[in-house]
Amino acid sequence: MRVITDCDKLRRLCGKYRAAGKSIGFVPTMGAFHAGHLSLMRRARQENDIVAVSIFVNPLQFAAGEDLAAYPRDFAGDKKSAGREQVDVIFAPLAGEFYPAGFSGKVLADSGLNSILEGARRPTHFDGVCTVLARLFNLVAAHRVYLGQKDYQQFLVVKRLVEGFAFDLELVICPIVRDRDGLALSSRNVYLDSRSRGKALVLSETLKLARSVIELGERDPAKVVSEMRQRFSLSGVELDYITVAGAEDLQPVKRVSGDVLIAVAAKVGGVRLIDNELLLGV
Ligand code: PAJ
Repeated sequence: MRVITDCDKLRRLCGKYRAAGKSIGFVPTMGAFHAGHLSLMRRARQENDIVAVSIFVNPLQFAAGEDLAAYPRDFAGDKKSAGREQVDVIFAPLAGEFYPAGFSGKVLADSGLNSILEGARRPTHFDGVCTVLARLFNLVAAHRVYLGQKDYQQFLVVKRLVEGFAFDLELVICPIVRDRDGLALSSRNVYLDSRSRGKALVLSETLKLARSVIELGERDPAKVVSEMRQRFSLSGVELDYITVAGAEDLQPVKRVSGDVLIAVAAKVGGVRLIDNELLLGV
C-alpha cells in the first residue's frame, strides 16, 4: 500500500495505472474509519484493479462553529484497516497542500439540492463537498467512485456534480452499515455518551416504523410522518426534520409511490445525527 500526500504524485501514479489499462475504484473519506467506510473499500476491491482511498478532513465543508477541530482523526488505525482491505493507495494530503495559498477552484453545489434539508441547515457544506470532490476526481481519474447511502443527499449532490462537469466516472451507492442494534455507523457516533447512544436508536426505529407502515399500505406521507413524530416525542430526542421525499429531487411527495426517501435528522445529547431509508418501487 502506498501512502501519498502530494497532489502531483497522486495524479502521476493514477495516470500510470490508467495508461496500463487498470481500472481504478476510488473511496473518498474524512478518515476515522468504521465498518461503513470499510464496506465501500471492500466493494471497490471487488470491482477494480486498483483501490484508492482519500483521507482528508476537508475544511471547506465545515462552517465556523462546526466540529472541524474536534473531528475524530486516527491515521495510524485507518492505515491498518485500509491495509486489511487491500487498498493500494491512500491519499492523505495536508490542508495547505491540497488547497495551496491563492487556491481558485471553488465549486457551487446544485442550487435545488443545496437549499433543502442538510443544505438548508449547513448552507456552505455541499459547496465544500463539491469543491473537494471535483479536485479529487481530477487527481485520481477513477473509473468508479464509491459513496454511502448514509449521506443520501450528498450522493445526489455529487451525482449532479458528475453530470454537470461531465466527469467520466461511475458513481456507486452502497447500503448503510448499522450497528447490531440498528444505529447507523457514523464517525460522529464517538461523541455520544452511553445514555445518548441509547436514545439515538430512535432514528433507526422510526425509520423502520415508517417502512412497515408503508409496507402495510399507507400512502399518505402526512400520516407516515405523524406516526414517526409521535415516536420521537416520547424519546426526548430533539427532532430537526423528517421528510418523505422523491428519491431523485428530495422534494416532499404528496403520495408515497415510486422511489421514495424517508430521511430524519435529530440532535441527541448535542450531537447531530442523520439517517434514512430508501424505498424503491413502492
Ligand atoms: P465521511 O463522512 O468520512 O464518509 C465517507 C463515505 O462513507 C461517504 O460516502 C459516506 O456516505 C460513507 N458512509 C458513512 N457512514 C456510512 C455507513 N454507516 N454505511 C455506509 N457508508 C457510510 O462523506 C464524507 O466523508 C465527505 O463528505 C467526503 C465525501 C469524503 C468529502 O469530503
